[in-house]
Amino acid sequence: MKRFLSEPLQRLQYELADRDLGYFVETFGCQMNVRDSEIIAGMLESAGMHAVSMKEDADLILFNTCCVRDHAEKRLLGNIGALRQLKERKPGLVLAVCGCMMQQQAVAERLFKRFPFVNLVFGTHMLDRLPELLLAAYAGERVCAVSAEEIHVTEGLPSHRPGGASAFVNIMYGCNNFCTYCIVPFVRGPERSRMPEAVEAEVASLAGEGYTEITLLGQNVNSYGQDMEAGIGFPALLARLSRIDGLRRIRFMTSHPKDLSDELIQAIATLPKVCHHVHLPVQSGSNRILKRMNRGYTREKYLEIVRKLHEAVPDIELTTDIIVGFPGETEEDFLDTMALVEEAGYAAAYTFKYSPRQGTAAAKMAQQVSEADKRDRLKRLNDLQAKKTRENNEKYIGFNGRVLIEGCDDKEQPVAFGKFSNFKMVYFPGNRDLVGSYRTVTVTEIRKNSLFGRLEGAETE
Ligand code: SAH
Ligand code: SF4
Ligand code: F3S
Repeated sequence: MKRFLSEPLQRLQYELADRDLGYFVETFGCQMNVRDSEIIAGMLESAGMHAVSMKEDADLILFNTCCVRDHAEKRLLGNIGALRQLKERKPGLVLAVCGCMMQQQAVAERLFKRFPFVNLVFGTHMLDRLPELLLAAYAGERVCAVSAEEIHVTEGLPSHRPGGASAFVNIMYGCNNFCTYCIVPFVRGPERSRMPEAVEAEVASLAGEGYTEITLLGQNVNSYGQDMEAGIGFPALLARLSRIDGLRRIRFMTSHPKDLSDELIQAIATLPKVCHHVHLPVQSGSNRILKRMNRGYTREKYLEIVRKLHEAVPDIELTTDIIVGFPGETEEDFLDTMALVEEAGYAAAYTFKYSPRQGTAAAKMAQQVSEADKRDRLKRLNDLQAKKTRENNEKYIGFNGRVLIEGCDDKEQPVAFGKFSNFKMVYFPGNRDLVGSYRTVTVTEIRKNSLFGRLEGAETE
């Protein structure tokens, strides 16, 4: 699709004409950042640059950062420090740092001072201003641009996706929930839904380009449309997107349990393109802790949703996020989480040690849990989930369903892999030609915690 280029992007294109510059974008954090990086790549490609696969070959290196946990921050600082020598060897190299961590004014300014060889620092709300910022950088300026004022939804930016059959599509930005541990509402701003027409047009255009699976992105997709007058809700959006020709699968994430409605459960059960997987972060199994986290549901309400989902959609799989060691979490609270994991039966759980984030309510709470306790609880929780995953896998022997083939490892005996509608991955003998097609696979055995099976018959419609 030919897109209209903004005036600064046209000027950048003109400025860089004949320079054949290579860019390298490194992305940290969640799918939101992955999607933002695709838009960054789209702008850079439109300006005439090309992607390179090694930092050493790049003329522009950009880090798109995350700050959801401490560990991400440390890695980034190390990564930037490591570029000092490269910059000395190649003075024309432009270094840029953007994303969630840079949306924190104080952190951005500190980094800008600490690394004088970094040319550009900008926050999440400045993404569409990248062409202007690059013009300034190529004119020899250093810029630190962080603002929480210009929060808006920009449509029609160029985008460069990696290809394949699957694509991410934003349906909303930001978050209003202010879970007490979480930095995201501070760095991503308030909830803004995209117009349904804009989402629909993007998905239809992707389907036209040959993408057959889309993943709708939002911090809390279940509250889609609530910020718009006369907006449509998430289940209605799913119904609308389901009518797009050529599209075969619709995934979405993340679902907040407090807003998961019966209509959504019905939409998953009845719309054939909507996949049978819900990522439903529980965070804790203790009502006391859930309250302190400001999650807006109880363990009983959560387990009720889990029960309803299984009842309406028998082959559904759920995945979750869990935090251990939230301030004030006792051994008893933690055992409530263990019991919930035992009961809910997740296909997978993404588990984290609580990491205090400056500016959030939980960081100021008394009774911070010791590192040793966090480590111990994380280990016990991971051991339990590993056992549950193994048990869950056992029920797949003999299971048969349609898989979108995502890739193939070319070993002596090539092994292809893909996912069922419910997000379970399966491996089977196959070849590269199959990638991107939908085939029926029967699970025959479990190998090293993975499902292994065989292809059945021809391509399925
Ligand atoms: N919007 C999503 C989650 C986004 S952040 C939701 O509400 O479910 C992804 C995950 O990171 C969260 O689900 C949570 O488990 C974890 N997380 C967020 N802040 C954290 C913190 N301060 N310490 C540890 N884990 C955290
Ligand atoms: Fe963070 Fe909670 Fe918003 Fe998720 S819903 S992004 S955990 S504040
Ligand atoms: Fe990280 Fe920002 Fe996502 S803080 S988890 S990249 S929204």
